[in-house]
Amino acid sequence: MDPFAFQAPRIIEIGGGTVAKTTALLARLNLSRPLIVTDPFMVSSKLIERLTTPMAEAGVAFDIFSDTIPEPTDIIIEAGVARMADQKYDCLIAFGGGSPIDTAKAMTILAAGGGKMRDYKVPAVADIAAMPLIAIPTTAGTGSECTRFTIITDHEHDEKMLIAGLGALPLAAIVDYELTFSVPPRITADTGVDSFTHALEAYVSRRATPFSDALAISAMRLIGANLRKAFHEPKNAEAREAMMLGATQAGMAFTNASVALVHGMSRPIGAHFHVPHGLSNAMLLPAITRFSLNSALPRYAEAARLSGFAAADDADQLAGAKLVNGLDELNAELGVPTPGKFGIPAADWHAKKSLMATQALASGSPANNPRIPNHAEIISLYDAVYG
Ligand SMILES: NC(=O)c1ccc[n+]([C@@H]2O[C@H](COP(=O)([O-])OP(=O)(O)OC[C@H]3O[C@@H](n4cnc5c(N)ncnc54)[C@H](O)[C@@H]3O)[C@@H](O)[C@H]2O)c1
Ligand SMILES: [Fe+2]
Repeated sequence: MDPFAFQAPRIIEIGGGTVAKTTALLARLNLSRPLIVTDPFMVSSKLIERLTTPMAEAGVAFDIFSDTIPEPTDIIIEAGVARMADQKYDCLIAFGGGSPIDTAKAMTILAAGGGKMRDYKVPAVADIAAMPLIAIPTTAGTGSECTRFTIITDHEHDEKMLIAGLGALPLAAIVDYELTFSVPPRITADTGVDSFTHALEAYVSRRATPFSDALAISAMRLIGANLRKAFHEPKNAEAREAMMLGATQAGMAFTNASVALVHGMSRPIGAHFHVPHGLSNAMLLPAITRFSLNSALPRYAEAARLSGFAAADDADQLAGAKLVNGLDELNAELGVPTPGKFGIPAADWHAKKSLMATQALASGSPANNPRIPNHAEIISLYDAVYG
């Protein structure tokens, strides 16, 4: 076995109601002056009060930056860094889906090193943060609460940049599934497919390790058994809890094993056509699994058994076929449109596909795929999924 490293937050509090432990966690980490990074919905829906009411009662002095946007851009990061200069904050608390968490990560990286966000995109290594981050996800989810990645759109070049390093790894995370009951079905589906894609891509990645495998296997079991339930029954506590656990485990798996071709091809779709991250993954997942299947058949087959697409005693070939068909059926059940049905004009899709393929390859993720595609093959895959 090749040597490998494993990275994770220093502490992760997990369970219903754990958001109320934030004040105690701050004290343990010797932090006292947080800037909360969130989005406008968390404030208007009052979900943020689960965090702020106990903190206010305990006398913690905090401020709130709530201007984050879905799929954050470098412009928002610069606004956030300007807010960090207001007071002598000693940490950030990100509260929300992947977008506020990624925003806070990028803020602390940019505040430490200056310059422009694009200076930090891979292959640069963003190891330095101005202050520590505590991440509290409200979707299940990106797993960003325990990854060393942040994904920021360069608004000038319409590029979703992958930024990676210890500077993006939260010091601590609080994983409280009770925050996810209000997630609407569309976002439950998109974020749940994102988690599943993290686990599957980590499992078939050329950079998988025994640690990432253990987490990916558990995540595929949990998500496979509960994604549909959480989608159809938003208040099902068992399903929400399992999805949250699975999302966090999937995040821990892929931050150490990396994602692969689905994420590589998904980011350019998000950047150019403003498709939410999980949805663009879902649009690609069946076709890319079909493309990659025979290059890692035993792993895909095992993934199919773990996540319930195949029976425990199905042979590899059958289990692999059931995985590809099952992912198509899952998309139908979750109402995932093709890019065409989503409303992306065919002319725009075809005009951008060569650039998208170049950007996908430049992110490095396709090189982790069991079957490594060239530029022309990526274009063919973009053609195949357009629909
Ligand atoms: N850093 C990483 O490792 C990583 C991994 C995967 C994805 N991402 C990034 O994460 C972002 C997507 O994050 P996301 O999918 O969590 O979505 P999001 O954070 O963009 O949120 C989507 C919508 O859901 C709403 N929402 C969030 N929580 C809610 C709740 N509890 N109840 C009701 N509504 C709620 C938000 O207000 C928003 O309108 C993308 O930018 C993607 O690139 C990052
Ligand atoms: Fe993702």
